[in-house]
Order: sequence, then C-alpha cells, then structure tokens
Amino acid sequence: MFTKRTIPATATQDQLVWKILFDRQTALLHRRAAPVFNQGLARLGLRRDVVPDIGELSATVREHTGWQLAPVGRPFEPAAFFELLAERKFPIVTRIRPMHSFDFSPEPDLFHDLFGHVPMLLDEGLADFLHALGQAYRAQPVGSATREQLWALYFFTAEFGLVQHEGKPMLYGAGLLSSAGEIHHCVNEHTPRPAFDLATVLRTPVTGTRYQNQYFVLPAWQQLSDCVDELAGILAGRCA
Ligand SMILES: [Fe+2]
Repeated sequence: MFTKRTIPATATQDQLVWKILFDRQTALLHRRAAPVFNQGLARLGLRRDVVPDIGELSATVREHTGWQLAPVGRPFEPAAFFELLAERKFPIVTRIRPMHSFDFSPEPDLFHDLFGHVPMLLDEGLADFLHALGQAYRAQPVGSATREQLWALYFFTAEFGLVQHEGKPMLYGAGLLSSAGEIHHCVNEHTPRPAFDLATVLRTPVTGTRYQNQYFVLPAWQQLSDCVDELAGILAGRCA
C-alpha cells in the first residue's frame, strides 16, 4: 500500500518563484555583477532548482568569515538590524516574494537576502565593513543624526553599491543584485552614478522612492575596507 505524500502548495510555489528569479537574475547579472559577488555565488553553490537551506548556508558563511545567518519572520527596524550586524549575524527573511512582485520587492524577502546578501558575506572586506558599521551604530545615541548617516552608508553600499572593475561600474549591492527593475533603472544612462566619497554618502538622505535617485561607485573594492578607518576618524572627531 502506498502512502500519498502531499507537498504543500505554498512550498511548490516558493520553489517556482525561486527558480524563475534565479534564472532571470543570473542572466541579467552576466557582465554586470562585481567579481566579488560571482565568487561568493560560486562558493555557496546555490542552485536554481532548490530553495537553499538557511542552516547549511550559515555554516558555510561562518567557515569563511565568522558570520551567521539568523532566520526572521519579517524585516527588522534599523536598531535591531544593526545590533545583529554588531554580533556578525545577518537576518534572513524566510518569506519569498509573491509572483506579482517579481521585478521589485518593496521589502526584503528570502530571495533578496539569500541571493543578494549571502554571497557577499563570504568576502572578508564586506563582512568586516558590516561588522564595523553595526558596532559604530550601536555606540551612537538613539535617534541621533549620526545613526541616520550610518544607515545611509549601509544603504548606499551593501544595498545599492557599485564598484569600478576594469573600467566599468559593476553591481555588488543586494538591492541591485536581486531586483531586475532596480538594475534597469541603475544602468540607465540618465541615472547619476557618482564616485563613492564617504563624507558625501554620509550626508546623502535615504529616500523612500521606488528606485534610487543615484548610486555611488567605489573606485576600487579596497576602498570599502579603507573607509572603516576613515569612518572611525570622523566619528572620533565628533566626540572630541
Ligand atoms: Fe537587504
């Protein structure tokens, strides 16, 4: 006698959404994604036909950079989010976007977090940068302007950053890597893409518009690591 195993409809739909998004983004990112992202993706071994297991990915990330993935039901407020970063933990939203939000998910979802952020967490430079950002945020008073500025720095790097590579701006921010709509907007010839400058980024407000008004391009990947010391100098100067 056979026992019929029923696969929940939501699980089947999640698999389908993952596969379609995976195929489309990998095609779209060909020659557009920064090498650091491609290296991370290859090391993780993400597959188009399987929604990854968060626990297994967390073990791999921990092995490389000491970070861990923390499954969460919904996106966090900035203070709780930065608190996790300070502990070298990255929250992963376990819900995947519905079919009608393929191009643009207004909130982080499983695809954004796993496909966009996790490959980048395998890079020492980005991992240490995010850790420093979490610690810096934690040290600032609640509601302070400096916390807002640190949020902007996170936003214009880990979420929507680009880096110059062989004369071309390449994508490394998770909000770009995981969104077809945002990529098309970013690479449009009319969208401003100024060179990254820490002081400028800190005083650039984060807007709530559908797509970003501008994207900052690191002249080289090393500059992300260099700006940790630069940031510490700026914050120390404010306390003096
Ligand atoms: Fe994100």
